[in-house]
Amino acid sequence: MLCISVEEFLFWKKRQLSKGGNQQSFAVLLDCIGGISASDLNLIILNPKGNVYLKKSLEFLESVWDDHLLNACPVQYLCGITFWRDLKLKVTNKVLIPRPETELIVDIVFNIFKNKSEKLFFAELGTGSGAISIALALAYPLSQGLATDIDQDALEIATKNYINSSKQSNLKFSCGNWWSPLERFQGKLDLAISNPPYIPRDTYEKLPKEVKNFEPKVALLGGEDGLKHIREIIQKAPLFLKEKGWLILENHHDQGEKVKQLLIKNKFTSIEILNDFSGIGRFTIGRYK
Ligand SMILES: C[S@@+](CC[C@H](N)C(=O)[O-])C[C@H]1O[C@@H](n2cnc3c(N)ncnc32)[C@H](O)[C@@H]1O
Repeated sequence: MLCISVEEFLFWKKRQLSKGGNQQSFAVLLDCIGGISASDLNLIILNPKGNVYLKKSLEFLESVWDDHLLNACPVQYLCGITFWRDLKLKVTNKVLIPRPETELIVDIVFNIFKNKSEKLFFAELGTGSGAISIALALAYPLSQGLATDIDQDALEIATKNYINSSKQSNLKFSCGNWWSPLERFQGKLDLAISNPPYIPRDTYEKLPKEVKNFEPKVALLGGEDGLKHIREIIQKAPLFLKEKGWLILENHHDQGEKVKQLLIKNKFTSIEILNDFSGIGRFTIGRYK
């Protein structure tokens, strides 16, 4: 541990932020590499005459911050870690950095399945870092989950994240295109969740370079209109869900109504478009008959 005065630390912090970047990314850097969490930071500010204990030198932290500012590489990839809900997850450029709004998918599930002792059988299609499935497997310890992805490298990261986050063994991982790893489980799912790639091609081309140059295209691009994968997932969902089983999808900010129509066309009921933190219809849910 390196010890420096709060005064020196705060002066250094202000100088780094004056170069560019945002508070959120800087907080990730301090937490992941410096060993200073958001709550530590609040205490530091309250005690200006005290000391700060860092895991790495200010010079090292500054070099990572400069790299982030110069190349627009997300801090999470530079640190190899992100925080999501109460999980600390390994991330590489093989997986999407799980977004804060996606945390709400877990709350939507909590709202539907209130009893945490329920023996759910759930699947997540396109698990990436494993964030959603791991959170659900931990919250419903008697459930069984299957997390799938088309990318074997992503699944390896998701598996490591599960092992690091849990001593349980109620989540399995399987590689393949959308429903194909679930062939053996037709008609068996209480719940299927997916945050699939849903960015339309023209929007994808205009994404900020910290997203487009670093995050996997396979995790973002949803075909010409963004709905290519959502369509496929909805069309096949009735084969895999139990009667009254739920499908929960994340979609692009302007796709809620279209996803709702797809669910209606495929005989789903109890359909709702649910908002994210900004009041945007980000999630569309329904049950099969
Ligand atoms: C938007 S990311 C979501 C990752 C993670 N669930 C999250 O919310 O952060 C979409 C994921 O779907 C996976 N994917 C893309 N095409 C797929 C396909 N045809 N079949 C299965 N998974 C696919 C990607 O590899 C990526 O991990």
